[in-house]
Formats: sequence, structure tokens, C-alpha cells
Amino acid sequence: MHQFTSVRDISDVHALVQEALQLKAQPFAFQQLGKNKTLGLVFMNPSLRTRLSTQIAAQNLGMNVLVINADKDSWALEFTDGAVMDGVTVEHVRDAAPVLGSYCDIVGVRCFPGLQSRDADYSEHIMQQFIRHTGKPYLSLESATLHPLQSLADCITIQEHLPAHRPKVVLTWAPHIKPIPHPVANSFAEWMCRSEVDFVITHPEGYELDPRFTGHASIEYNQQKALEGADFVYVKNWSSYRDYGKVLCTDAEWMLTERHLDPTNRAKVMHCLPLRRNVELSDEILDGPHSLVQMQAANRVFAAQAVLKRMLT
Ligand code: CP
Repeated sequence: MHQFTSVRDISDVHALVQEALQLKAQPFAFQQLGKNKTLGLVFMNPSLRTRLSTQIAAQNLGMNVLVINADKDSWALEFTDGAVMDGVTVEHVRDAAPVLGSYCDIVGVRCFPGLQSRDADYSEHIMQQFIRHTGKPYLSLESATLHPLQSLADCITIQEHLPAHRPKVVLTWAPHIKPIPHPVANSFAEWMCRSEVDFVITHPEGYELDPRFTGHASIEYNQQKALEGADFVYVKNWSSYRDYGKVLCTDAEWMLTERHLDPTNRAKVMHCLPLRRNVELSDEILDGPHSLVQMQAANRVFAAQAVLKRMLT
């Protein structure tokens, strides 16, 4: 595998999930695979889980890991071709990325969207420049539109809690105080559309995601109706795609509480973290028996390890 930026880079989601579960059972079985190989991780934005889980995954495979926080402990990067760099940016990605490529065997980058221009964000121009100029296999640590390592960890977690029947999975919008980007929601939708599940997305009107990612998912504006019979409920806020980056609704009724779970099939509740307690999701769910959020976070290690293993082989 030369790049991991989307579910489209994977031919068989189920096989990759099974591979991750095998690694979870035997994390150190492939310690020789990454010997004398270096993974470079570039963070343009904050991270707890992605940063640490990807490092652990690489170490489990015997790799060396380099981590830089662009703009903090390296130089502020410029991404515009032909820019006259007389402002705050100090180094062009055309110069920095080949350096990373010369030091590393695989390069991972986190680059959030600016939420100012939909066209710019959805063109993935930052990720594309890293891919082009490093010349090495590329691992997305979350891009402007997608977060595939999170979605793979979510699929692993669902697989570990599968009911006997074909599961119903609901992605529900949740309130938030700030405009939040779309990658987790887009990506979860994309991976669910490739999984053996019945998939429903529920949100207030105006929060429709890009149909390129939601595919054949059912859209239901009535949250209570959407939750009927759900086995898994994935909670996430996102800002509007249509009115790009805008917050259109702050209705606290959309925050999941125990009461919201009544019509479900004793649903398990998921969230990628970080989250704002009692704004996005209630304490009673997070601290109760329905929550899978800590398992999702723990599975981030094996999602990253399965992907790195394929890149190394
Ligand atoms: N879920 C997730 O990607 O967490 P971090 O932003 O902390 O990496």
C-alpha cells in the first residue's frame, strides 16, 4: 500500500479489520518488519490519540519514529505555488517535504481544513502537496475532509461488539459551541457505506454532508425516528457543508442522553474524542455501560499498526 488517505485505498475493509484484530492479539509479532525503517509524523494541528497511537503502532512494528509540530518546533510552512514569501511563512512545502522524504520511509501528516473556502479544503491541496513532494508512502493522520485511521478504529470496535443480526448504525449530529470540520463524519460515512451494516445519518436540516461520502446512507431529520432499533450510535458534531463552515443550529435537544437511547436496541454509543462533555454527549452516557469511546481510542493503535504493516510489506 503506497498511501492511506481514504477507504478508497483499501480493497477489503473486513480483511483489514481482521488483520488489526490479529495484531491486537499479538502486537509484537512483526517487530522485524520495521527494523531500520523510519516513520515521520508531521502535525499541523493538535492531537492526543493520533499522535500517540501511531507512535506506539510504529514501535510495535520495530520502526523508528520522528515527530514534528509544524509551525511550533519547525518552520511555518507555505503551500501557495509562486508565493512571494515576505509574510509569516518561512519555508515552502516544496523545499521541506523532500527533506522529510529523504529522512523517512513513510510520512504521515495531519492537516485540518481552514473552513474558509470549501473548494480549497475539499481539494486537499495541503495533503496533495505533501504526497507529491515527499515522494514516499503517505499516511493521513486526518486531512481536510477525511480521518481514515479513526474510521478503521471505529470499524474494529464495531466488529468487536457485533450483534448476531446485521447491525443498524446511526451517525447523529450533536451540538457544539464552535464550527467543527467534517473529516470524522465524512470518513465514518464512507467506511460504513463499505461495511455490512444498515446505515442512517441524522442531523438538523442544513447539515447534509457531501454526498460523495454519504453514498447510499439513509438521511433522517428526525433523530428519535433515526434511533429506532439502532445497535450503534456514533455521535459527532460538524458544521454546515452547504453554508460552508457555518453553525446553523445549537439545539441542545440533539445531545444524546439516556432518554434518547430508549427506542434503540440497547445501542452502544461511540465518539472519536476529544469531546465537550454535556454539550456533545452527556456524562451519564460517557460514564455508563453504553459507551465504547475508550475502546475506540485504544483501537487506534491497532488501526495504525495494520495500515503501517501493509505499507511496510
Ligand atoms: N480522535 C482523534 O483523532 O483524536 P486526536 O485529535 O487527539 O488525535
